[in-house]
Amino acid sequence: MKLAVVGGGSTYTPELVDGFARLRDTLPVDELVLIDPAAERLELVGALARRMFARQGHPGRVVTTGRLAEGVEGADAVLVQLRVGGQTARQQDETWPLDCGCVGQETTGAGGLAKALRTVPVVLDLAEQVRRAAPGAWIIDFTNPVGIVTRALLQAGHRAVGLCNVAIHLQRKFAALLDAAPEDVHLDHVGLNHLTWELSVRLGGPGGTDVLPKLIAEHGARIAGDLHLPAELPTRLGVVPSYYLRYYYAHDEVVREQREGPSRGARVAEIEAELLRMYADPALDTKPELLAQRGGAFYSEAAVALAASLLGDAAGAVQVVNTVNRGTLPFLPDDAVVEVQAEVTADGARPLAVPALDPLFAGLVAHTTAYERLALDAALHGGRERVFRALLAHPLVGQYDRAERLTGALLDHNREHLPWA
Ligand code: G6P
Ligand code: MN
Repeated sequence: MKLAVVGGGSTYTPELVDGFARLRDTLPVDELVLIDPAAERLELVGALARRMFARQGHPGRVVTTGRLAEGVEGADAVLVQLRVGGQTARQQDETWPLDCGCVGQETTGAGGLAKALRTVPVVLDLAEQVRRAAPGAWIIDFTNPVGIVTRALLQAGHRAVGLCNVAIHLQRKFAALLDAAPEDVHLDHVGLNHLTWELSVRLGGPGGTDVLPKLIAEHGARIAGDLHLPAELPTRLGVVPSYYLRYYYAHDEVVREQREGPSRGARVAEIEAELLRMYADPALDTKPELLAQRGGAFYSEAAVALAASLLGDAAGAVQVVNTVNRGTLPFLPDDAVVEVQAEVTADGARPLAVPALDPLFAGLVAHTTAYERLALDAALHGGRERVFRALLAHPLVGQYDRAERLTGALLDHNREHLPWA
């Protein structure tokens, strides 16, 4: 089996490699190609990946290249984890929206739109190259904003599934609280990428007993605390929101905090610099502890499980993925991309039925889906007015003058990445 990772020079790659090494019975990788235009960084990360495979006795070959078409040639699956503009662009996404009173976040709000505009054309271009060089390969997209990027890929007819680690993270957390094995804990995880709620937590399988009420009664405040949400929120809502809901439920509070402190992107840039120093040590042959300070925990496990299902070895497994709605959330258009549990086989992801969504959550999902559709229009066709329309439609923007100011700021900060701007 050949896997290619676009953005293979990312500091996250050792997380992936660690998963490939540990879970090689689930996913037997013969060749791992790391593709990245940043040659120096790629060599550092590639060399560490080889040492990690060697330490764990993994027989797979690790290849590094800056040439995409060559790297993906004949791959069975291509993982996409790139970041157009790097952490510099991210730090900007997290900063300029604050001047207009909006949250500064890399996937939510105006910053998330900027990221979508920069990213969608790049991912579509690489997907075309995958289509030519590796026809039939699956594209696993971890590149944010995952919902919008996945929608772009599916709309263009690519074989793609979007992946995020929010669900697996909560699954592991709940399993620990319940003293259960993670694979016995199934979540009714419903919504859009970075806009989800756990409606139930089932023990023993997708049809198992719902232990969420008990979990909330016993550990609600602690769960909320870990997610930086008000302690009583899970009890009042009867569900567990993902921590991205904080940007909605506590928007103004987050803006105040963000105005005071350095951005997450600035902190990540520091962590990355330190990680790269560590990766350069020829004695290092494991994933360093410091990587746990990034947000990508369990990304590798989710990616291995998904690839194993798509490539046939674990076909039929149920996983949380981003895929096309097709009636799963009946109040959304069929072609929207939703993040739900799905049965994954070599034919792709087929969402499982989900419980009816309370209007308290459905309203925000519908609103954000409309924004995502307009964001994709802007990413595909460009134009100031399309950017404005997407911002006006965003539930965290909504007001005319704010949308107008944000449009100007977004374009000013992103011209180098937006040929049409
Ligand atoms: C979680 C999210 C990812 C996001 C990451 C950010 O893993 O699911 O979509 O990219 O957090 O983590 P960072 O360390 O970059 O802030
Ligand atoms: Mn995510």
